Amino acid sequence: MLRGVRSGSLVMMTGLVACVSLATDLHGGDHDIVVGDRAVVQRCVLDGNARSIAVGMPGGFCYSFDPVRCRVASVWFGGFLDFRPEATGRGGQQVPILGSPRMVGTAELPLRIAAPDREPESIRFDGYRRERETGIPTFLYRVDGMPIEQRVVSFDVDQVTIELQLPGEERSPVYYLTDPEAVERVELSDRLRWTAAGVIEIPASERWAQIRLQLPPSTETFVRPEPSTNGRLLYALHCMSCHTLDGKKRIGPSFADLWKGSRTVVRGQQVAEVTATEEYIRESILQPQATIVQGYENANRMVDIRKTLNEKQVDALVKFLMDLKP
Ligand code: HEC
Repeated sequence: MLRGVRSGSLVMMTGLVACVSLATDLHGGDHDIVVGDRAVVQRCVLDGNARSIAVGMPGGFCYSFDPVRCRVASVWFGGFLDFRPEATGRGGQQVPILGSPRMVGTAELPLRIAAPDREPESIRFDGYRRERETGIPTFLYRVDGMPIEQRVVSFDVDQVTIELQLPGEERSPVYYLTDPEAVERVELSDRLRWTAAGVIEIPASERWAQIRLQLPPSTETFVRPEPSTNGRLLYALHCMSCHTLDGKKRIGPSFADLWKGSRTVVRGQQVAEVTATEEYIRESILQPQATIVQGYENANRMVDIRKTLNEKQVDALVKFLMDLKP
């Protein structure tokens, strides 16, 4: 397995770069925590915070969650953590990350309940649960008593997607504050809206919100680890946020309905009735704009997956969706 080795601030792969021997901490690689086909969740000292929770996602997206303020403190792309200080010392020391941290927002919790300018009175961390198949964590916390579930994924280079699950019963509107200094562009799921510069409103009717933050392009080279061809995992990392498996509607249709009869689509100027086939699935992934499922004309567009996934990975995803066929 290839390992990330830190040399200056560049993340390089030992197998690909011949002359990293100049890097003084080359042997430090023995203590790197390598992320394979499951997400890794590691409590450690990070960002000067002794209670940080670091998450390494398969594919090279990593972030730290601050359980005190219940926010994403930093994100980085590339290798995960160099655990040498923890493994060789008495512990409790700052753990170096294998990549360069990118800021995603302010030092405070970005959520506000009922009014965007009212600081939360209480923030309580309730822990996290992990998806059985992939280990991907969902963080659970309460802001002014409102239970919130949060997942963080990345569909694309320099992109961070925040997914929030909110209570269904009567609740106040929730506001999410973005930091215009840290993010270049923001895309929102249906019915979320801007109420002021940097202020997103999640109306009381919504139980789910997706906020996609595009960070300024990184100057660091990001060498991806060996790409995974596990279809279920690729689904969780790149599609689950918009397509559920249990019939719930998110930004796109649920894959539970993929094999249930036909759907009406708009192809070019024509309306057609199509049933799912391997070709249809492949085209939906590679050229999402070629056919649009009726009712989703104004939905958030699918990302161009060819920038992040190779041919074998697309094959693995197609197979995963074919295997859902009863
Ligand atoms: C940002 C949200 C988003 C993401 C991420 C996303 N999709 Fe989609 N997808 C949509 C929307 C919206 C539609 C419906 C509009 C259309 O047909 O293009 C759709 C449609 C589809 C369809 C057709 C579904 C049907 O019932 O006819 C397939 C298949 C599909 N997507 C596969 C994928 C796969 C595989 C991934 C992950 C690699 C993915 N999508 C990621 C938003 C997304």
